[in-house]
Amino acid sequence: MRKGLFITLEGPEGGGKTTQARWLAEDLQAKGADVVLTREPGGTAVGNGVRSILLDSSPGSISPEAETLLYLAGRAQHAAEVLRPSLHAGRIVVCDRYTDSTLAYQGHARGLGVEPLIAMNDFATGGLRPGLTLLLDIPAEVGLERQREHNRMEAEGLDFHRKVREGFLLLAERWPERVKVVDASQPPGIVRSRLWDIVWGWIR
Ligand code: TYD
Repeated sequence: MRKGLFITLEGPEGGGKTTQARWLAEDLQAKGADVVLTREPGGTAVGNGVRSILLDSSPGSISPEAETLLYLAGRAQHAAEVLRPSLHAGRIVVCDRYTDSTLAYQGHARGLGVEPLIAMNDFATGGLRPGLTLLLDIPAEVGLERQREHNRMEAEGLDFHRKVREGFLLLAERWPERVKVVDASQPPGIVRSRLWDIVWGWIR
C-alpha cells in the first residue's frame, strides 16, 4: 500500500463526515495501514482553542476576515504539528475538513473570494494540499435538518448553506482529479462503501 497519503473529507453540514471519517480510518486500519484521524478546526491545543472561539461565539460577533484568519491559524498549527510530521513518517492522514472548507464557507459563501483564500491556505500550510478529497454532498435543507445542535456556523440561514454547497461543487469542478463527489443523502452504509471504493482505487 502507498504511504504518506493525505485524504480529506469535506462538505456541507449534516453529510455525516465525522462518522464516515472514523469508518474510513477503521477500514484502512483493517488493511494494515497506519492511520492518523484528525479534524479541523481542532487537532492541536491551539486548534481546539480556536475552535471554541469560532463555534461558541454568538452569531454576528466575528467579522468574516477575523473568522478566516482564525481558521487559518488553527490550520497552520495543525499542519506544522500533526499533518507534516505524520505524512513524513509515512502514515495515512484522514482529516475531517481542511482547506476546501475555507474556500467554500469563507471564500464562496461569505464572499471573500476563492482566489485569495487559495493563496492564504498555501501560506498557512506551507503548500500542503490533500492528495484525495471526498466531498460528501447533501442539499442544505436535508443536511441542516439532520443536525440537532447548532453552533455559530450552523445557525446561519438556509441561503448561506446553499452557497456553501455550491462553493464545494465548484471546487469539485475545478479539481476533478482530486475532489470526488459522493451523494451523502444515501444510507450511511452505502456512503461508506462508496467512499471505500474511491479510496481503495486511489491507494492501489
Ligand atoms: P463542526 O462542529 O466540526 O462541524 P462539522 O461536523 O460540520 O464539520 O464545525 C465546524 C464548522 O466550521 C462547520 O460549520 C464548518 C466551519 N468551517 C469553516 O467555516 N471554515 C473552515 O475552514 C473550517 C475548517 C470549518
